[in-house]
Amino acid sequence: MIESYQNRYRSLFDFVALDDFTPYKSLKGIVRVEKLLIEGGRALKGTVKISGAKNSAVALIPATILADSPVTIECLPDISDVELLKGLLEDIGGKVTINDCEMTVDPSNMVSTPLPSGRVKKLRASYYLMGAMLGKFKQATIGLPGGCYLGPRPIDQHIKGFEALGAVVTNEQGAIHLRAEKLVGARIYLDVVSVGATINIMLAAVLAEGRTVIENAAKEPEIIDVATLLTNMGAIIKGAGTDVIRIDGVPYLHGCRHTIIPDRIEAGTYIIAAAAAGEGVIIDNVIPQHLESLTAKLREMGVEIETSDDQVFVPKSYGLKPVDIKTLVYPGFATDLQQPFTSLLSRANGTAVVTDTIYSARFKHIDELRRMNASIKVESSSAIISGPVQLHGAKVKASDLRAGAALVVAGLMAEGVTEITGLEHIDRGYTCLVEKLSGLGARIWREKMTVEEIEELESM
Ligand code: EPU
Repeated sequence: MIESYQNRYRSLFDFVALDDFTPYKSLKGIVRVEKLLIEGGRALKGTVKISGAKNSAVALIPATILADSPVTIECLPDISDVELLKGLLEDIGGKVTINDCEMTVDPSNMVSTPLPSGRVKKLRASYYLMGAMLGKFKQATIGLPGGCYLGPRPIDQHIKGFEALGAVVTNEQGAIHLRAEKLVGARIYLDVVSVGATINIMLAAVLAEGRTVIENAAKEPEIIDVATLLTNMGAIIKGAGTDVIRIDGVPYLHGCRHTIIPDRIEAGTYIIAAAAAGEGVIIDNVIPQHLESLTAKLREMGVEIETSDDQVFVPKSYGLKPVDIKTLVYPGFATDLQQPFTSLLSRANGTAVVTDTIYSARFKHIDELRRMNASIKVESSSAIISGPVQLHGAKVKASDLRAGAALVVAGLMAEGVTEITGLEHIDRGYTCLVEKLSGLGARIWREKMTVEEIEELESM
């Protein structure tokens, strides 16, 4: 890793109250906050290597709580969510070491320490501590999770699952309290297909007595990844990756070594960036099957993508055609790629409609893209994009992680310099973004913000 996690993210951990809605609230007078600058119009060329999947890592790390001996996770992404989770495991007595891209967690001295506030509120995936700590200790107190604001993000299906297993769940003063005499397997039908609820119920059920069946389960590759880790720890899980998952509880789980799958959303972001501003880019260390909904759409647009075992090649594209997108649960088009894809559609020759059926309000990036000259209207849960337009560099703000990715893609295509603030969101999910894009020939760099710039942002 280029810099240690601690050094890279020290400014954020020390000073920024990562309150999702007003991330700069507590920054008055603080100098060490950065912005991202991109001088657009440079062709991307070469090879970029994809890191381990964020949305796997953030579930795998809490899953280590369930073991009774050390677990090592390889191909760890270098992102701030990982650092936050490391701190949370340490808060409950875990011994955690990170060497290069490998994390080892020794859970032997962990106890069910209440975690009502602090770090848990800074990321969405802290909800996995509920399932893992309930499974291991039969009790937990965890603050309500934070993460990107994409409209309402309830966790009722997680709670329904915990209750079905025998837990008493109460919500007091912004924290969820979970208690169970014992956990007993149950049949749980999810009313909404949910990645988080599927994984959380698996975490709570692996040490329960008897069989748990999760029906209408989510099928994302990250769910298979978590099931693989748990199976390597000694759990009995069948059907992960289908909509019915069967778990036979075991009395204890042991340590193991596990390699995280490649990040399909990071890969998708670079594929989109390559289609937007590339002249021949190889995206390396990917599982192309995980990206089929994206590559199919890009082919419809006229991008002649080629795939091999673990690479995707995106050649220079000409005369892009507009395509409509509707986000769906896996294997449908990922909501997490909707935002960067919208930026690309500005280059297409005609009108395209992007509809988000998972998060109907995931359109905060649109106002910022308009500042860059994009022609986009939002109607209900759809964005209507008219192209082609030449985007212009502007001062824009990332309101959430993938909105940040959308602005980066737009910045690469734009004429002039784009200045992106709200980097704490981008740092939650993209390993070495500046280094990877610079490696492809982009002109992109980070700069410290001045107090005046921070105050201007606060007043926006
Ligand atoms: N939902 C409920 N009740 C629940 C849970 C979910 O109504 O109890 C709804 C949500 O409001 C949403 C839909 O079900 O409309 C799907 O939500 P899901 O639970 O699948 O989302 P999540 O687990 O909270 C994960 C990823 C997101 C990604 C979504 C959808 C993690 C940590 N986050 O969130 O990733 O958008 O699945 O694929 O895995 C990102 O990486 O930028 C990101 C936001």
